[in-house]
Amino acid sequence: MSHPTITDRLADPSGARESGRKKIEWARQHMPIMTSIAETFGEERPLEGQTVAMAMHVEAKTAVLTEVIAEAGAEVAITGCNPLSTHDDVSAALDAHDAITSYAEREVDDEAYYAAIEATLDHGPTVTVDDGGDLVMAIHDEYPELIDSILGGCEETTTGVHRLRAMDSDGELRYPMFAVNDTPMKRLFDNVHGTGEASLSNVAMTTNLSFAGKTVVVAGYGYCGKGVAKKAKGQNAHVIVTEVEPRRALEAHMEGYEVCPMAEAAEKGDVFVTTTGNRDVIVGEHFERMADGVVLANAGHFNVEIDLDSLDDLAVARREVRDGVEEFEMEDGRRINVLAEGRLVNLASPVAMGHPVEVMDQSFGVQAVCVREMVENADSYDAGVHEVPDELDREVAEIKLDAEGIGIDALSDEQSAYMNSWQHGT
Ligand code: NAI
Repeated sequence: MSHPTITDRLADPSGARESGRKKIEWARQHMPIMTSIAETFGEERPLEGQTVAMAMHVEAKTAVLTEVIAEAGAEVAITGCNPLSTHDDVSAALDAHDAITSYAEREVDDEAYYAAIEATLDHGPTVTVDDGGDLVMAIHDEYPELIDSILGGCEETTTGVHRLRAMDSDGELRYPMFAVNDTPMKRLFDNVHGTGEASLSNVAMTTNLSFAGKTVVVAGYGYCGKGVAKKAKGQNAHVIVTEVEPRRALEAHMEGYEVCPMAEAAEKGDVFVTTTGNRDVIVGEHFERMADGVVLANAGHFNVEIDLDSLDDLAVARREVRDGVEEFEMEDGRRINVLAEGRLVNLASPVAMGHPVEVMDQSFGVQAVCVREMVENADSYDAGVHEVPDELDREVAEIKLDAEGIGIDALSDEQSAYMNSWQHGT
């Protein structure tokens, strides 16, 4: 039986479509890179005849990417990459597009989530676009017969790239994938500024509490952690960083943050944000040390950073105290509040809208040119993880500078020769 699309599942699809369309148009208005790429793609139709399967956070900015891929000539099938990050209205608006089928639906159970991934793959993709790697994993585990007709794919996030590199080093990755996450235009903006701003604003909106005067514990001082720490400091919080990597811990120390193990930070923090991409970062021994009323949120890709099973074991009661906030009551009366079920807070809390539009314009600009590259130059890429060619990343940066009206200098011939020479000295 064919899997129902979002339109089949909604009580009022036309109302949803209208609301989703407004969100998409607002985002598109503020995405000059995607607008410029859409113009070129619309004229040149570089994806004509391709079928693109996508598993992404289905909200307004992703919808713009999806439509631009369709405007480039592709047929697109899309589903979510997290059961709580889909906006059903946006999904419905996408499904109304002639060349797009959307299976993404919010708050589905695991079975429906994976059935939607299968339905997306039933379209027979020639290109895959993932955020977290679920499509690639499903194809390799369950549908290896699709691999021969897949030209390649793109991966959006750090955790997905980690999974792909692990597969690649085991010799298990059977088609080429671009590590879109690792480009400067994505990682230095999306992970740092996007995650920093969007995670904190969602914690604030979900709790209606301030950061000023509070102690914010940031677990992990990678790209995302740097952003969260910087923006929390900017809102007058005292910031503590926890790390396992000595150089990143030192970097945090030199930036003026307190650095200590989680066991110590647990006693001091008011708000905790995990950004490690790792599991079991906040566990039983930490919950036991926390003060009454702490707020815990995760900004890493999977909901494994806060050990909710052990929190549940320690709790004598749990209840929803606000939309998106669950309170776990400890035996001694302390209350520990968990946001968005420990899923990535900037996308999965009830008020979440994901990263700011401008940031996603950059990330998705890189995605769009990478999909084009995978189609146009498929023969240049073997199975495995590939860095995005630097000229593609620069192309997106140049479009953005142009849109912002920002001019930069160019190297003179003499400067280029000097920079490329080893024969100069005093
Ligand atoms: P990264 O690799 O730059 O940073 C992760 C840091 O966590 C590293 O410095 C690592 O040493 C540290 N770490 C690992 N285990 C730890 C532990 N047990 N305790 C303390 N620190 C630990 O990765 P990046 O780019 O910052 O991404 C982090 C996560 O955020 C990934 O899951 C990624 O997919 C996700 N992500 C989420 C976004 C969002 O919208 N919320 C946007 C972009 C990425």
